[in-house]
Amino acid sequence: MFSLFSKDKSFGVDVGTQSVKIVELEKDDDQIQLANYAIWSNDVGEVIQEQGENTMSASQISDIIQKMASEADMDMDKVYFALPSFFTFSSVMTVPEMSEEELSETVPLQARKHVPVPIEEVQINWINLGKHARENKLNVLIIAIPNNVVAKYQNIADNLDVDIQGFELDIFSRLRSLNLPAKHTCIVDIGSRSTSVSMVDAEENLRMIRAFDVGGNHITRRLANALEVSMERAELMKIDNGLSGDPGVASVIETVLEKFFRKEVGEMVEEYTDMMNTTIERIELAGGISQMKGLNEFVKQTMGKISSQETIEVQEAKPTQNVEVPDQLSEIFYKEVWQDVSLAIGIALSKYDEV
Ligand SMILES: Nc1ncnc2c1ncn2[C@@H]1O[C@H](COP(=O)(O)OP(=O)(O)OP(=O)(O)O)[C@@H](O)[C@H]1O
Ligand SMILES: [Mg+2]
Repeated sequence: MFSLFSKDKSFGVDVGTQSVKIVELEKDDDQIQLANYAIWSNDVGEVIQEQGENTMSASQISDIIQKMASEADMDMDKVYFALPSFFTFSSVMTVPEMSEEELSETVPLQARKHVPVPIEEVQINWINLGKHARENKLNVLIIAIPNNVVAKYQNIADNLDVDIQGFELDIFSRLRSLNLPAKHTCIVDIGSRSTSVSMVDAEENLRMIRAFDVGGNHITRRLANALEVSMERAELMKIDNGLSGDPGVASVIETVLEKFFRKEVGEMVEEYTDMMNTTIERIELAGGISQMKGLNEFVKQTMGKISSQETIEVQEAKPTQNVEVPDQLSEIFYKEVWQDVSLAIGIALSKYDEV
């Protein structure tokens, strides 16, 4: 029943490879507020889910979510899920110029060639990227989501006895969680076991997205091996030292990151330039690793060595201004929590999109 005191609540759930984050937002008049959040992670330990077989079952994941919600006193009935990009396959294909109607017939047929699994096992989503920079063709971004991944999230929701109110690719949640300027931007979201790199144009349209099997865990393992310390100790060294301080620690981290930024990010930046006929102006760093000491400067230097990218701006991703954080939380929130729950905030915000 309608009550004067009822607030319009929204729950966003981000199930990562090694952590789960839940955010509760509420809307009162026109203001959206952070009402509650919960983070569960076991740092260097168990895998929750990743590409491939190494993954917890739906019931194990729902048990974790259930426990988090009850400890944080969140009464969930409907939730929004962000779908990790590492579960999806995406690719840009070119087709002759045609109408939107013709595209909707052609794309699913052509997509077969671009998806590395049987087409019956996936749902195909696509975005018309518009005209090719040089040829009389259209670029189409296709994103294939495996049916079994969708089924797994449905199982999680069933176990929790909640309805899925929304389910979207994490990059769209990420975009909603940020305050991007009108520039061609590359978003590098570095988590514990995976990293996604996405390119958006000045109007925030997604143009490219790719997931890589690299993340904070690889850095920790490299440190543990190189310095002959335990994973736990290496994790602390990674966080305390980062890329500044002890050069012995920094150089191990640099080796992993330099290779990744130069090769993978560099290659995508070049492809973007080629496809769009314009360069990437800005890199936004998100995910847990974006909090690493000295990372901004390091990425700027590394990208600066790629000839076309001398003037690229590098920023740690900043939160959207659309969510009010209560005064008593704001200091610790912006300093320590925001990056961790920003994706969950982004997905929860989708509830208020259509107003
Ligand atoms: N201040 C910090 N300095 C360096 N690394 C950090 C810092 N804070 C967190 N990390 C690292 O960030 C990683 C966790 O990132 P995140 O929370 O985005 O991952 P996830 O969501 O569990 O996994 P994924 O996004 O891969 O699915 C861990 O490797 C952690 O050690
Ligand atoms: Mg994550």
